[in-house]
Amino acid sequence: MVTFLGIVGSPRAGNTEFIVKEILDKLTKMGAETRLFLLRQLSFTHCQGCWKCYKTKVCKMRDDLTINLFPEMISAQGMVFASPAYYGSVTGLMKNFMDRCTPFLNSYNPGPLRGKVSANIIVYGREGGVYCSQSTLDYWCLTMGLKVINNSLFHYLEKNDARSSIYREDETNIISLKMMASVDKKWEKKDGQDFPRIIVKEKALMPLWRTPSGTACKKKEKKGITLSLWSKDITKRRIGKLLKGGFSG
Ligand SMILES: Cc1cc2nc3c(=O)[nH]c(=O)nc-3n(C[C@H](O)[C@H](O)[C@H](O)COP(=O)(O)O)c2cc1C
Repeated sequence: MVTFLGIVGSPRAGNTEFIVKEILDKLTKMGAETRLFLLRQLSFTHCQGCWKCYKTKVCKMRDDLTINLFPEMISAQGMVFASPAYYGSVTGLMKNFMDRCTPFLNSYNPGPLRGKVSANIIVYGREGGVYCSQSTLDYWCLTMGLKVINNSLFHYLEKNDARSSIYREDETNIISLKMMASVDKKWEKKDGQDFPRIIVKEKALMPLWRTPSGTACKKKEKKGITLSLWSKDITKRRIGKLLKGGFSG
């Protein structure tokens, strides 16, 4: 049976955990075996930089990573790695886990994770350095020889936002279908996989592209299509404000 893992790097039971649980739930319903690892519940410390694994291909430390999680990663077909954005990177928890995966380096030829798939998720709240967070995770996966089949951004700030009406089921559906399709072609043509891949929703847009709050927008009908027009001064004001204030995070 195909096995997928969810590895969550949030220190709280918030949005990231909720999204990963949703994906694993869908994968289970599609017939996969799934396992959830909440890094905050595991006992492990950071990489010591000893490079012993360069020779031995295993980490000398004995803790929840080496005893419980690493063997599961080696036998799974794919993984969902998910972390909140913290200061333009991933959380310290996630980063400690990533560093500890040095025995899996693909340059150890081959790394034990080579060719497995990963679906990466960054949950962000304040829009600061979001793409840095995303590329930190993606880049690390590439060094492990993983095939990144998905990288999604979810925009939530408060702990329970993802449980609310702004939950994006379309996105979690697509992620789970993509994971199944990576191991079994029968999922490639299933209904639903072709729905529009909507990653960017209003809340996830850069401030410049968002609908300004409290300002009216003119609608114009052109050849049956409704165009939304903003007056020039609104756009100018917004750009000016952004240039002055920059993007806060
Ligand atoms: C210490 C800290 C740093 C954060 N840094 C960023 C950041 O750089 N960019 C951003 O968009 N959001 C940032 N956030 C917001 C979180 O990414 C956001 O609240 C997210 O929903 C948390 O996910 P969780 O509910 O799974 O813990 C930060 C939050 C904390 C607590």
